[in-house]
Amino acid sequence: MEERIISSRMTADDEPVEFSLRPRYLSDYIGQSRVKENLKIYIEAAKMRKETLDHVLLYGPPGLGKTTLSHIIANELGVSVRTTAGPAIERPGDLAAILTNLQPGDLLFIDEIHRLNRSVEEVLYPAMEDFALDIVIGKGPSARSVRLDLPPFTLVGATTRAGSLSSPLRDRFGVVSRLEYYTVEELTLIVERAADLLQVGIREEGAAEIASRARGTPRVANRLLKRVRDFVQVQGDGVITGETARDALDRIQVDKLGLDQVDHKLLLSIMQHFRGGPVGLETIAATIGEEAHTVEDVYEPFLMQIGFLQRTPRGRMVTPRCYQHFGVEMPK
Ligand code: ADE
Repeated sequence: MEERIISSRMTADDEPVEFSLRPRYLSDYIGQSRVKENLKIYIEAAKMRKETLDHVLLYGPPGLGKTTLSHIIANELGVSVRTTAGPAIERPGDLAAILTNLQPGDLLFIDEIHRLNRSVEEVLYPAMEDFALDIVIGKGPSARSVRLDLPPFTLVGATTRAGSLSSPLRDRFGVVSRLEYYTVEELTLIVERAADLLQVGIREEGAAEIASRARGTPRVANRLLKRVRDFVQVQGDGVITGETARDALDRIQVDKLGLDQVDHKLLLSIMQHFRGGPVGLETIAATIGEEAHTVEDVYEPFLMQIGFLQRTPRGRMVTPRCYQHFGVEMPK
């Protein structure tokens, strides 16, 4: 299991610090209580029976902790984790190489599992079901299939869209867990925990201010925390209070609801250029210069969650509540 520790050499780069902020065991993990309680039981049961844990599918919007949970599951099971992602596995042979290199009991984490191509998925079915690899040797009439045994393993798949998974793949997961947006209270605890690890002083109102603008998402909360820390360390006394957090977040243009410049651009363009919609996803994406799937997976879920945006069969529409927030008059 890869181990990373905060060091001054690593603070120049967001990623390693982010990694080190991640909880390593279920007991450090805040929020998602139902998912956590259930996983705890399944893990304990698997350990009691000395079996591998059934395959787990984690789904939900980005930044809610799917990767973190997969590493936690491995730590709780006391096994190693091998991490890859759907788009990285191009050919069936790539997956076969990964599978044959696993040690018995290992956890294989496949992020963005909905992006596996069909021929790779087909290698995965017997691997998940029977811990076997079916290899075709030769071509034409003399081709024959040989079955290779694989070490038993647990697959943890993560996706932002459970709906885009083929049903044969989805059906092969014994545990399917949906991650939800975090409450402000949970995010406040997460920010306090992260501030502690980053060794920056923080008052509860400071943590709550960051939490309330974090779009229900720990990854966003930790990113905002780091930016606020920059402001208080350079311009303040190094302690994050309600007031210093508010000032810093206003300066980086994250509004009271956690909406940033891209959200503003997206919503304002629908209101001002498309009379509130309906307007197609591709059109919105082109207008704001983002990829359609980024708009769909990253920006829209939260805007729908707070009731600012609706997906309709004819396209995206903003709601009266969105007009209110921006103080824009609704078209007649
Ligand atoms: N850091 C990021 N996500 C977290 C969580 N759910 N609990 C504790 N710390 C976290």
